[in-house]
Amino acid sequence: MSEKFSKIYDHSIKNPENFWQEASNDIFWFKKPTKILNKSNPPFYKWFEDGITNTCYNALDFHIDQGKGKRTALIYDSPITGSKYKLTYEELRSKVSKFAGALKNQGVNKGDRIIIYMPMIPEAVIAMLACARIGAIHSVVFGGFASNELASRIDDSKAKVLVTASCGFEPGRTVEYKPLVDEAVKLANHKIDKMILFQRTAHEVKLNAPKEISWDEVLLKAKEVDCVEMNSNEFAYILYTSGTTGTPKGIVRDIGGHIVALKWTMKNIYNIDEGDIWWSASDIGWIVGHSYIVYAPLFKGCTTVLFEGKPVGTPDAGAFWKIISDYKVKSLFTAPTAFRAIKKEDPKGEFFSKYDLSKFESLFLAGERADPDTIKWAENLLKVPVIDHWWQTETSWAISSNCTGIEMMETKYGSACKAVPGYDVKVIKQDHSLAKPNEMGDIVVKLPLPPGTFPTLWNADKRYKDNYMSNYEGYYQTYDAGHIDEDGYIWIMSRTDDIINVAGHRLSTGAIEEVLSEHQSVAECAVLGIADKLKGQLPIGLIVLKAGVDKDNATISKECIQMVRDKIGPVAAFKVAIVIKRLPKTRSGKILRGTIRKMADNVDFKMPPTIDDPLILDEIKDDLIKNNILKSA
Ligand code: COA
Ligand code: AMP
Repeated sequence: MSEKFSKIYDHSIKNPENFWQEASNDIFWFKKPTKILNKSNPPFYKWFEDGITNTCYNALDFHIDQGKGKRTALIYDSPITGSKYKLTYEELRSKVSKFAGALKNQGVNKGDRIIIYMPMIPEAVIAMLACARIGAIHSVVFGGFASNELASRIDDSKAKVLVTASCGFEPGRTVEYKPLVDEAVKLANHKIDKMILFQRTAHEVKLNAPKEISWDEVLLKAKEVDCVEMNSNEFAYILYTSGTTGTPKGIVRDIGGHIVALKWTMKNIYNIDEGDIWWSASDIGWIVGHSYIVYAPLFKGCTTVLFEGKPVGTPDAGAFWKIISDYKVKSLFTAPTAFRAIKKEDPKGEFFSKYDLSKFESLFLAGERADPDTIKWAENLLKVPVIDHWWQTETSWAISSNCTGIEMMETKYGSACKAVPGYDVKVIKQDHSLAKPNEMGDIVVKLPLPPGTFPTLWNADKRYKDNYMSNYEGYYQTYDAGHIDEDGYIWIMSRTDDIINVAGHRLSTGAIEEVLSEHQSVAECAVLGIADKLKGQLPIGLIVLKAGVDKDNATISKECIQMVRDKIGPVAAFKVAIVIKRLPKTRSGKILRGTIRKMADNVDFKMPPTIDDPLILDEIKDDLIKNNILKSA
């Protein structure tokens, strides 16, 4: 079984340089690399270090040069606003190169950082590609984050320009971007030079010239510009992600390795050929959106769908089927939570039966563990393979997957299949020995990581090394735990740090705790991700008040919830803050978060022998019952 796959996989692990050199022949280089992998300074590896290329050239110009400029590059469909249109490769390049010219006119040069804080509109993609065209480094910030998070990214990246829009649309409400951006700009210590704002029809806002300019205005004097030549190891983008502390980490992506790896994945993992219609229902603010709404499908010469809507409520649970049917989508990539949302609203698939999905071939799920029930429900409905695959912002492409373009393998429900070529995945036990098949431990990847993964953190080489590459020498620590079975299937069971996954969005409970601690009545707190049928996990906060606080608990809870919304953003989905008397700790003072979480999830747990006072758990149990988190026995 899976002989073809095994042969390719083994080649990638035994001869990585040879394997990726072959893959690199498939992309456009101004100067082909002669040095494939520099291993002289571990854990800082360099792929294709003397290669010269450009991300935007590979995404657009390369296809136009080959006479494919009339092919549709992007389909925009926004059930929220009712707007939809298509752009060919030529049309998209024209818009991108004009906006690139506009950025140049605003003083943006190679290496400058540009923050993009935008909803799911084509201008966001245009801004990303325009940065790539002139060698600027973009940092896209998800629209569901609040001003504080935006400000921390402006400060860390020291961005020159911020590109935004007048608003985003969430079902039932307009997200006013301008006040959020204004607040972020005020909060940030680093001062941006310019703000470029795209005015959305029906929601124009006032701009304060000369620092704030509209998208249309910057285009007036702009000329189309060509792609600049970039060294393979210069940076394409920074994407901030939740870390083990509240301070987000700037994951950086180099240029050459990113193009080579992502283009390779389209055929080998997803079985997508050039010209195919591909849809990733994520958001450009997340890694899935970067890699699979924008870059990989365009590198491959596909048509990518940009969808401004939700799986349910825009207008109904048939929204996904409508897009697939209208545009003859071949494969969809989304998070399991989206399918759980559809299943909840339309368990019998009545909406599904209204559409023609005859061109649809596969569904890929990632971002959180895909529960077997959801996979089976989707398989029954769609009658196509449903593939769970595992990856991270750090890697930008799948670490494990059924590589459908190489060879379709058997599905084991609950497993994210086997390591993808390029990744030598192992499990390490607490005593630092390698686990045997089926033994649990920390999941790690042997260094060097393949191309397209993060070569470092933005301005934080030491944090990169200390955080990811030091606990297990010679390995990248994924912070996921699980096991590998006797057939090489990887089973991701949990995170080993404070990260939780809420509706496929990666959040740090530490960051939420930092916000709660700022409330003047809060003495200490713990935030846990508890199991949720729809979103996978949901954060709940347990708060201990300072002595002598005379405000009532309900008011304090409400204030805490609002603070998290204001400081982190609505995406934190933080709706439960329970005031408790005390937190359970070990005798050395460590809060027993894992134990409380197990109790809240109603799973068996052992009373930790080091607990300072076991009675505290009974008190918390009562509080969880009172707040409908736990049912009484
Ligand atoms: N801008 C502003 N606010 C946003 C936002 C954005 N781009 N995205 C989400 N939010 C807000 C939502 O409106 C919601 O606000 P509310 O508290 O006022 O209702 C809050 O953030 C939580 O959003 P979410 O967790 O997404 O919940 P939801 O109930 O709106 O939708 C799903 C639930 C399952 C439909 C939705 O999460 C979904 O489609 N997920 C798909 C998965 C995905 O895209 N994952 C990304 C990685 S692959
Ligand atoms: P992000 O960086 O936002 O993509 O989140 C990465 C994390 O999401 C991983 O470290 C896992 O914890 C989780 N994750 C992603 N895909 C899967 C999957 N298929 N199965 C289980 N967990 C996953």
